[in-house]
Amino acid sequence: MRQLAVVVLAAGEGTRMKSSLPKVLHEIAGLPLIGHVLATAHSLAAQHVIAVLRHEKEKISHYIAAHFPTTVIATQDEVPGTGRAVEAALAMLPASYDGDVLVLSGDVPLIDVSSITELIERHHSSKSIGTLVSCQMDNPFGYGRVIRSRGELVGIVEQKDATEDQRSISEVNAGVYVFDFVQLKAALAKVTTQNASKEKYLTDVVSLMIEQGLVQAHQISDHWLVAGVNDRAQLSEVAQELNSRIVRAWQLAGVSIDEPSSTWIDVTVQIGQDAHILPSTRLAGITRIGPGAVVGPDSTLTDCEVGESAVVTRTVAESVRIASKTKVGPFSYLRPGTELGEGGKIGAFVETKNAKIGPGAKVPHLSYVGDAEIGEGSNIGAGTIFANYDGENKHQTKIGRHVRTGSGNVFVAPITIGDGAYTAAGSTIRKDVESGALARNPMPQENLADWVLEKRPGSDSAKAAKRTE
Ligand code: UD1
Ligand code: CA
Repeated sequence: MRQLAVVVLAAGEGTRMKSSLPKVLHEIAGLPLIGHVLATAHSLAAQHVIAVLRHEKEKISHYIAAHFPTTVIATQDEVPGTGRAVEAALAMLPASYDGDVLVLSGDVPLIDVSSITELIERHHSSKSIGTLVSCQMDNPFGYGRVIRSRGELVGIVEQKDATEDQRSISEVNAGVYVFDFVQLKAALAKVTTQNASKEKYLTDVVSLMIEQGLVQAHQISDHWLVAGVNDRAQLSEVAQELNSRIVRAWQLAGVSIDEPSSTWIDVTVQIGQDAHILPSTRLAGITRIGPGAVVGPDSTLTDCEVGESAVVTRTVAESVRIASKTKVGPFSYLRPGTELGEGGKIGAFVETKNAKIGPGAKVPHLSYVGDAEIGEGSNIGAGTIFANYDGENKHQTKIGRHVRTGSGNVFVAPITIGDGAYTAAGSTIRKDVESGALARNPMPQENLADWVLEKRPGSDSAKAAKRTE
């Protein structure tokens, strides 16, 4: 096996994105464009993976160091162009290197390992010194065109430099190539910046290398694999295509997905068999959905774990663990640190944060539960507020096992309610409640007789009151 160095080009300005975020950090299916390319690069058996950076180098290298730490960073100088970028990468290789160089673009995210493997195999079996991936495109605008003479590759012409005739060619250069290192290096040294963009084009090595040996275009038929992202319209097209492939793969793996077009699933998500995903649902980040769980409609789950047969309806949740056989929603907002034990429930219009809710425990209606622990089998009355914030600090509320709290309580933290205790409706609980006690602090109720007749004479209420007298 020849040695392999993979070069990922990501030094361009990405001006067509019109963004303060570098182009290759824009995300599709939960990973930045360059994350998809680097994931592919690192799954090839390569001795070197080199990313070329310049524009927004700090931000991009920060991402790479965090997620693909074995990547070598090369820095492109002020000479612009993809050819110059590759030269910067080659300078990072040991002087003795004499293997292959695979070039990928940071903005061509869907290229996959199997097409690259085919490309390299064809390159070797035909004893070529350079092989590029090409593809027929319905709309080739913006891509470099593959120029052939009597069927043989003779060069690549960029959109801006192409003649009218050349622009009508629909076979485009994908921006994915494998080269012999020594031949590539020699050819790049001869490339100039004499073209419409005044850039040192990598594509110019093709016509130069043809003089030294065989250079071929390897056509692939799936145009999505080579789609480049230059602007936000292309970003959304590629994102949709990737998403529909992810959705389809889960359907074929035994997941029911009612409406693929409104269901968004990141590449990092796992879903168990017989799970059912309802329309307008986004599963993002490191989210795991258990077998037989039902999620949606209208739900967004980010970095969540949902247990087997759980039902999550119209919910927004982030960094949350929901055990098996639980029920969440509709209209629940689960913030980081929420854990719901097996068979538990978080119901309508409930917000939770940093809340460990035990097995079988329920917070069914209209409540805020922040910084709390609720023991097994306890029930929180409707409209309860866990008052966790004193204006400066957050405090903890601990509710024991099998507690029953009345409707409309306020728990002023820090506070502890013992196992099996009760609280009365409408109570503000400021002192700890011992196990088995009933806590109540109702204001003594006073009824002021005929107050409405005197203070609101002639009103509908007064008339109604009169009628019942
Ligand atoms: C490039 C190809 C074109 C091909 C298309 C496929 C060249 C000259 N043209 O055009 O033939 O059809 O890709 O998508 O190669 N980059 C650098 N340094 C630079 C300029 C660009 O690293 O100085 C990087 C970019 O960050 C990007 C990649 O190279 O990741 C491609 O650059 P881009 O400007 O998007 O090239 P295209 O015009 O798409
Ligand atoms: Ca591009």
